[in-house]
Amino acid sequence: MPIKTLILAAGKGTRMRSSLPKVLHKIGDKSLLEHVYKLSEQLESEEINIVYGHGGESIIQALPDLDANWILQEKQLGTGHAVMQAESFINDEDAVLILYGDVPLLSKSSVDNLLLQLNESPLSLLTVTLDNPAGYGRIVRSKEGKVRRIVEEKDANSDEKLISEVNTGIMAVKGGKLKGWLAQLDNNNAQNEYYLTDVIELAVKDGVEIQTCQAISEDEVLGVNNRAQLAHLERVYQNSEADKLMEKGVSFRDPARFDIRGQLLDVGQDVEIDVNVIIEGECTIGNRVKIGANCIIKNATIHDGVEILPNSLIEEAEVGKRSSVGPYARLRPGTVLAEDVKVGNFVETKKTKVGNGSKISHLSYIGDCEIGSLVNIGAGTITCNYDGVNKFKTIIEDGVFIGSDTQLVAPVTVAKNTTVGAGSTITKNTTAESLTLSRSKQVSIASWKRPVKK
Ligand code: UD1
Ligand code: MG
Repeated sequence: MPIKTLILAAGKGTRMRSSLPKVLHKIGDKSLLEHVYKLSEQLESEEINIVYGHGGESIIQALPDLDANWILQEKQLGTGHAVMQAESFINDEDAVLILYGDVPLLSKSSVDNLLLQLNESPLSLLTVTLDNPAGYGRIVRSKEGKVRRIVEEKDANSDEKLISEVNTGIMAVKGGKLKGWLAQLDNNNAQNEYYLTDVIELAVKDGVEIQTCQAISEDEVLGVNNRAQLAHLERVYQNSEADKLMEKGVSFRDPARFDIRGQLLDVGQDVEIDVNVIIEGECTIGNRVKIGANCIIKNATIHDGVEILPNSLIEEAEVGKRSSVGPYARLRPGTVLAEDVKVGNFVETKKTKVGNGSKISHLSYIGDCEIGSLVNIGAGTITCNYDGVNKFKTIIEDGVFIGSDTQLVAPVTVAKNTTVGAGSTITKNTTAESLTLSRSKQVSIASWKRPVKK
């Protein structure tokens, strides 16, 4: 049966108090709507239809990568009306899966169960039993336990309000039947809306025995209506991501203080992550990597045995085996550290390659630079790579020792095994194996007297 997904996302989201359409608010690195879209993709939907309305074209523009059929619902006249807008895209033999754009954490297994039930009945509902069912449509069953209809909170009598099994809104339904029932919907109810939920009673009238399956967890069917719910689901999402990583061999000092806003494409075993670490974009982390507190790692590759000390920022960089970074280091885009490299505190690197066993231990800016192996860069070394208009390159060959507080004015090459004296300003290429320094001679004036107060 070809699966056609229909994501309802036209609603207003007033309670977010935001200029951004509700479904564009994010959990992790993805908007609510993208989470639902991603699930639809995993289900191998033949077609993903998204009903949009509030927020208009701005939603489509914000999500250019979605390969979806966008369907405009000009006026939001209810969930049934929203589905009617998609009717012309539904074929009789389709399995239509209805999802909500603001329910981001729905699991694939729940939806798989729902779709499986279509083999037994043309309509299957995902329900959940809640301690506090207020606000939801209630599942009204007969004495024998068969689903009779759904009654919305606003239309329910006091007995019906006591029912704790509620409609999640997620359903699977055969295309032909759905179209027949949609044609019979009206808006004679408390909200004067075309309720999709009225389809249930129409199906029962047609002699359909409706199937239900229970959501695996309450959180997976929660919708986002306000910022508190958004924050709650963010934490639910982060906890589940941390759980997955722990299964792969990652230890967290506190999984509740870890955030991933992207993906770990690969992660090794015996990785230790301290509190308040954020992983962004696409990262890879090898075996036995230790990440200290308060580090942000974005689009980076961290190889085996690396230690990242607290408060370091690493972006679009590669850190080779057994290297050590931080505390308070900033590796900017284009930084590639080979093996056994040390980048210490208050060091900033950009577009820089560092060879095996080299060290930049303290307080330096190294940009547009190529450093060989076994190089030692002294504290306070600066590459002067920018003349205000253009950027130039500094090359530091193997075995070089740069004394503290050196400025390297690019373009310049410090040749193999050069020793640069502390406090030098190097403007010309050096000779290999030399001692090179540029420093005014030190003088001591023995007869000098300190001024005295008049
Ligand atoms: C709906 C269900 C209710 C269920 C609850 C679960 C109906 C009539 N009621 O109620 O049984 O318990 O969800 O959360 O279906 N939307 C549109 N166009 C519209 C109206 C809504 O696209 O004209 C979209 C919204 O963006 C949202 C979804 O449909 O994603 C649900 O709409 P909402 O207004 O939240 O429905 P509820 O009243 O919560
Ligand atoms: Mg709702």
